[in-house]
Amino acid sequence: MNKLQTPERIPIPISQLLVGLAIPFDVYTRDGEMYSHLFPKWTHFSDAMLKNLQQLGIETVYIEGDVSRIEMYLGHKIEEAPQSEEQNRFSAYSRKKQNYHQIEKTLLVDKSLFIPHSRITFSLFEVGNMAFTQVVEASVNRPVQIPPHGFRVKGDLAIRIEDVALYQDYLHAMLSSPALPAEVKRKSRAIGMKENSKIMIREVLSSPTDLEKISQVAGAVGAMTEAVLNNEVDARDLMSLRNHDLYTYTHSINVTVLSISLAATLGLPQEQIEKLGIGAMLHDIGKSTIPAEVLNKQGQLSEEEFRLMQQHPVEGVRMLEGNAEIPKESLLAVLQHHEKLNGAGYPLRLRGNKITAFGRIAALTDCYDALTTPRPYRYSHTPYMALSLLTRETSEREEFDPEYLKALVKVVADLSAE
Ligand SMILES: [Fe+2]
Repeated sequence: MNKLQTPERIPIPISQLLVGLAIPFDVYTRDGEMYSHLFPKWTHFSDAMLKNLQQLGIETVYIEGDVSRIEMYLGHKIEEAPQSEEQNRFSAYSRKKQNYHQIEKTLLVDKSLFIPHSRITFSLFEVGNMAFTQVVEASVNRPVQIPPHGFRVKGDLAIRIEDVALYQDYLHAMLSSPALPAEVKRKSRAIGMKENSKIMIREVLSSPTDLEKISQVAGAVGAMTEAVLNNEVDARDLMSLRNHDLYTYTHSINVTVLSISLAATLGLPQEQIEKLGIGAMLHDIGKSTIPAEVLNKQGQLSEEEFRLMQQHPVEGVRMLEGNAEIPKESLLAVLQHHEKLNGAGYPLRLRGNKITAFGRIAALTDCYDALTTPRPYRYSHTPYMALSLLTRETSEREEFDPEYLKALVKVVADLSAE
């Protein structure tokens, strides 16, 4: 068996980086299982850079290099940092978040979209600052009418998991209502498609052995691909824009929409795009085998934890390969979404043309969406910054396919256009 890449990236609080000196190592930030290259080796670390990191909310960076050399640079031994209060808060929040489902905010706050006098039968929670705060208390027995100007919510919006079916009923009633103004029909259709897909993929991720549910995903991606390619919906209405945090299911939908749009820009035939989309939607299904405490861990992962994390593409393929509804080609996007053209990826450390078009597209869109997602205590990139970083990693380190990256720049420009 191939020896897996060992986790030679050591977390260092930014306060310990030596101001005024060059850093003799490559420096990264970490986002879940993904590292983003922050500074190349020998970057001169100035006071302004320290302030900049502080402003961006980056508290810890990851240094790649030999432990004894890093200790020499720091001037002290690296010790395992005790769990900070913030890390404990984050763990508590991560556990709590499993009880909520993030919903599309526009529906209930955008006056042009909700049906006047419509009532909701589920409570609403605002997500922000790692807390779920109830903004509306409602139930089947005590429905609440949406106020004339919608609800005012700053953060993301969530409902309790047990209210998902009630939310789906509301969604269905609203989208099929004759009172829905014609000018918002296109947007509503996209929102309905996205919200139903989110519910579906969340259920798949929480009971990944349910073959029937997995097959439904294939059908939903087919409908989504067709709607995007025939311009029946706007791809940007299918994307989830988050203020606060990421759920794997919103990320899965975003990666699917970006992959479909990228493949369309590259001129792939519809039947190929659909297969790619199915793989993109299910790309992280293997994560359901990773214990939550490893997935949400903030500090350094042990070698064993790292190995587990790096197995999720293989686990994903294992879970899907027996399902007749999932095309074989789709599995390539699942297996290869963490491979890098320079061979530095995982799980197989494939290089260059050993990585298929599906793998290259999924790797780019997965990285782009992860970079642009805000997280508590972590740094998120604007679309421009994320594309600059991917461009740098492509030109200096040959991680991604330059032609596909060009297509992604075009897709992001289209999605951002008013
Ligand atoms: Fe992944």
